[in-house]
Parts: sequence; structure tokens; C-alpha cells
Amino acid sequence: ARHLLGIDHLAPAEITTVLDLADRYVDLNRRTVKSADVLAGMTQINMFFENSTRTQASFELAGKRLGADVMNMSVASSSVKKGETLIDTALTLNAMRPDLLVVRHGSSGAVNLLASKVNCAVLNAGDGRHEHPTQALLDALTIRRAKGRLQRLTIAICGDIAHSRVARSNLILLGKMENRLRLIAPPTLMPPGVKDFGCELYDNMAEGLKGADVVMMLRLQKERMDGGFIPSEREYYHRYGLDAEKLSHAAPDAIVMHPGPMNRGVEIDGELADDINRSVIQEQVEMGVAVRMACMDLLARNLRAERGRAALGALA
Ligand code: CP
Repeated sequence: ARHLLGIDHLAPAEITTVLDLADRYVDLNRRTVKSADVLAGMTQINMFFENSTRTQASFELAGKRLGADVMNMSVASSSVKKGETLIDTALTLNAMRPDLLVVRHGSSGAVNLLASKVNCAVLNAGDGRHEHPTQALLDALTIRRAKGRLQRLTIAICGDIAHSRVARSNLILLGKMENRLRLIAPPTLMPPGVKDFGCELYDNMAEGLKGADVVMMLRLQKERMDGGFIPSEREYYHRYGLDAEKLSHAAPDAIVMHPGPMNRGVEIDGELADDINRSVIQEQVEMGVAVRMACMDLLARNLRAERGRAALGALA
């Protein structure tokens, strides 16, 4: 494929290929291995129209580890503030001939639209409530490293499912890999139609967590609640916040995950989040760099092959 826009279009074997390559980019100390020849001569532009710490920093680091020229477009000081549209901004940057464009945008589908207008590889760094494919891939790598497999696990995804692109990409990926999926959320934060993903639905943590191998917590995404129902944080934590007591219903060796940014004392107890015997939250961040290296490496190979075919075609 030319782009990485979502998990939907990836086959299980392709997911495994990304994870295997990402694993090769991690050393025994869980640091990423510098391989500056992989993207040598290539230009990567990061366009983040929504805030980010982990995704933007790790895409930048991943590009530099692979030897790309990396540019971070600052939306705050760009002509977006003068009313330039997403497409005009993208076409302007496209004219500078980047090879890889990494885009985060607040509107679902914006990154797919942009990908249809440019002639470089586009990587979706999160679009609205739609998809966050590299997050799902780094979550999958973290699970596979902790559990030794990515199949036949009972995985509970808990919290604000309705507004979460992370939940959506994870449901697609973990479902393709034949896991048993459970969603735990208050009814107001459970999106309609989610049963189509083949998961079990719960609104009670003790029932939903029973025997789970993986417990994935999500942030309350108030910025997407459009003035609708916003739960009281105190009550929410009491019913849905993960603490040691609620976790005791899961399997004794269950791992705790959170994509970040994390609201301690809202969706998760701070001490539990820091407990290295249960929490793999820091490892998720570490795997983020390796997974993004693998994604850009694979897309760059496809891009080079495509350009090679075009050059041969021009000679014929
Ligand atoms: N998980 C995630 O996407 O974090 P950032 O918003 O900090 O990039």
C-alpha cells in the first residue's frame, strides 16, 4: 500500500510483518536501534492540527533514527491561522516534494481526503474519532511482547469508547487477530453499532474484567463531547476508574495499558499506573518509536518500488 490510513485495510499477515520489523528495531534494553540508511535522502513532514506529545515526538524520533530529513510544521504559526484550508496547506507542502507526510487532524476522514490529493506516502497519526493505526500497532506489539502471543487473549477496553479512535483501531486490529474482546463503559459512552465488531458489552467493571488478560483504559475525551453528557469525574472514577480492587477481578497476570495522555484519579489510579509489575504504559511509549520506524520503513520500500516502476515505464 502507498499509505497507512487505518487498520481496516491491513490483513493479519501484514500486521504481523509490521510487528516483526518493529521488534527488530528494539534492542535488549528496549531502546530503538539507529538505522540511518533506511530513509536516507527522504523528507518527512509532520503536520499536527491537534495536540500531541507521544505521537508527534515518536514520529520525529523514528524519522531521525532512520536518517530522514524531518520537518515539524507548526500549525500555530502557519497560514492555517489565516484561514488556509487543510487541502491548500497539504498541496503547498506537497509541492516541496516530501516522501512521507504524517498527519493528525480533529475531523474523521480528513487524513483520507488529504491522501487522495498528494503524491507521497501519508501516515494517519489520528483523525477525529475514526482511526489511530500506529497506536493500535504499538499496543499490539506491547501485548505480544508481554503475553508472548497476540491471539486467543481476553482483552477488556474500558471507558470512553464512544469518542475514541484508539478503541476503534484496537477493536479492528485485535478482532482480526482472533481475540475475545470486551468493552466496558457507561451506556452514554458506548457507541451504537459497536456490537458489529463482535465484542461483548458491559457497563460493570467487575463483570467485564473477569478473567481478562489485558485491561486497556481510555481517557475521558471531553474535547469531543460537544457539550453533551460529561460525567462527574468523582462518580466516574468510583464506577469505572481502574484501581487495585477492580483489577483483582482480572487474571492474576493481567497487564494494564493506557494510550495516554492519562488523567490520574479519573480513569486510573496513579499508583497502579506506575506499578511496573502490572502496568506496561511506559513500554507502550517505548514501542511507539519502533512501530513508527517499521511503518515508515515499509512505506518507503513501497514508495521506492512504485517510483522504480514509474521510471521503467517512462523508459519503455
Ligand atoms: N496516545 C496518543 O496519541 O498520545 P498523544 O495525543 O500525546 O500523541
